[in-house]
Amino acid sequence: MKKLFFFLGKGGVGKTTLAGSLAVYLSKCLSKVFIASIDPAHNLFDFLGVSAKSGPIEISDNFIAEEIDVDLYVKKLLKESTQKMKKNYHYLQMINLENMFDVLKHSPGMEEYAMLCALEELIDTWKSQVDYIVIDTPPTGLMLKIFFLPKTTLLWIEKLKKFRKKILERRSQLVHIKGKQGVGEDVACCEEEDRVFKELENQEKRSKEILDIFSNPEICKKILVVNYDELSLREGIKIINELAQIDISIDLLVCNKKGITDSILSDNDVENIVDKFKSIKKVEIPFYRDYVTPRNKMIEIGKAFVKELLC
Ligand SMILES: Nc1ncnc2c1ncn2[C@@H]1O[C@H](COP(=O)(O)OP(=O)(O)O)[C@@H](O)[C@H]1O
Ligand SMILES: [Mg+2]
Repeated sequence: MKKLFFFLGKGGVGKTTLAGSLAVYLSKCLSKVFIASIDPAHNLFDFLGVSAKSGPIEISDNFIAEEIDVDLYVKKLLKESTQKMKKNYHYLQMINLENMFDVLKHSPGMEEYAMLCALEELIDTWKSQVDYIVIDTPPTGLMLKIFFLPKTTLLWIEKLKKFRKKILERRSQLVHIKGKQGVGEDVACCEEEDRVFKELENQEKRSKEILDIFSNPEICKKILVVNYDELSLREGIKIINELAQIDISIDLLVCNKKGITDSILSDNDVENIVDKFKSIKKVEIPFYRDYVTPRNKMIEIGKAFVKELLC
């Protein structure tokens, strides 16, 4: 994988249109491309003119697309977590965790965690098979949470590892006084033997790996899409400020739908707000009023990006 592209921005600004166009253009230039939509309200296949199917679809020799089924990932995640918990905590055998699926799948954080897992898996699967991976993202709030998740997970793991170390220390003191029977023959007393500690280390490794990818400016390109309206511009500024907190910067600003007639802003207003984006490379894409869905303009749009993103 040479590059991974994320399209960010308010709903309706044109993320799917632009992500799809870039992917199609790159594949026409004979690069191998995988595009995935992780927006639960998918319309990538509609844009590409593909009838809905599950799993990756080979649209041409070097162009593969997939709409990720987030619900499926939530279920997979719950199943895996339940199996791990059963293995690591014997006393939980008494609780029927499967019966709690329906409650757990609506737990806070579950959707973004499932999406992050989906992202990890698709990057892992496709990084050695394609030149470019393009991600069409869900609305801002959810996507920001996904970007933040590896960092917050690492903070949690740091604390949890400290707690776990204390538990193991206590156990080992008990063994010293009472012998192994004092804690139970199969109860781990050191980090090397403890499955829970190993699981924490495993999660730590995974979070570091995905964080490294997200914050690698050479590989991972974040493209912010805005329109000529105040709300999308303000949301754009919010995205830039939030991502800056985890040292992630925007690589390209795309001002889409230039010339749209129902803009509520005067050119002056736009200039004033866009001024805040001054230090970021900028591409303007016109509003194609003749096309309901500007599929016929994919090559033109793709070309405009590639010039800025790859040169
Ligand atoms: N440059 C453009 N010119 C004309 N229509 C556009 C342009 N970009 C996007 N659109 C239209 O705007 C609407 C929203 O685009 P979409 O790509 O679905 O946005 P998002 O994925 O950000 O929600 C769609 O109807 C799309 O056809
Ligand atoms: Mg979309």
